[in-house]
Amino acid sequence: MQTCQLTTRRLCLRQWQAADLPVFAELNADPAVMEYFPRPLQSIESDAMANKCQQLIADRGWGFWAVSLREQSRFIGFAGLHQPSADLPFAPCVEVGWRLHRSFWGQGYATEAATEALRFAFEELALDEVVAFSAVANQRSRAVMARLGMTDTRANFRHPDIDPGHPLCEHVLYKITRSQWQAAHS
Ligand SMILES: CC(C)(COP(=O)(O)OP(=O)(O)OC[C@H]1O[C@@H](n2cnc3c(N)ncnc32)[C@H](O)[C@@H]1OP(=O)(O)O)[C@@H](O)C(=O)NCCC(=O)NCCS
Repeated sequence: MQTCQLTTRRLCLRQWQAADLPVFAELNADPAVMEYFPRPLQSIESDAMANKCQQLIADRGWGFWAVSLREQSRFIGFAGLHQPSADLPFAPCVEVGWRLHRSFWGQGYATEAATEALRFAFEELALDEVVAFSAVANQRSRAVMARLGMTDTRANFRHPDIDPGHPLCEHVLYKITRSQWQAAHS
């Protein structure tokens, strides 16, 4: 039995549990999952990230939720909302983000979870705007942004946490406003 904060047709978005940590460590160690990040994470780093997500959800009631399949109660990764602490040129902002275990790519789960996260952002948090960003070459992630109805601002930026000479430094910035969301979902 799992307690979901948000549900979609196939997914449960919920608080993190200790049992999620080994699967999260496995996905964060996968070079394919981490292709557009500077490097895969070690399990201690993965655990720290899960614990931080858990703490932020406990503190404010929303965040990067653990995502599990409703039918099997199986943890598949995370999706949700986050206020980035990096010194981003468009901060302060709330981003929508996602990271799934590779065995669960290609089934529409990231888009399904993120659609619900955006509904929460606009209908429950009443935010004016949500952003998403990724390395320029991260086409799968950019495809999720496009499916969500987000617009490529074409205001690419250098991620402040990545070495300026690194090929992953240049990022795209997508946005969706509450009025755009409402127009698409009324
Ligand atoms: C980014 C990431 C979550 C995208 O995963 P994804 O599987 O491509 O995206 P979705 O879950 O939305 O699935 C969409 C795909 O499922 C297909 N699909 C299959 N069944 C579907 C269904 N029932 N409903 C909707 N789509 C379905 C779609 O056609 C689409 O396929 P395509 O990619 O061949 O066009 C994944 O690649 C990932 O975790 N990457 C590593 C982490 C990362 O880069 N995160 C972003 C950092 S900014």
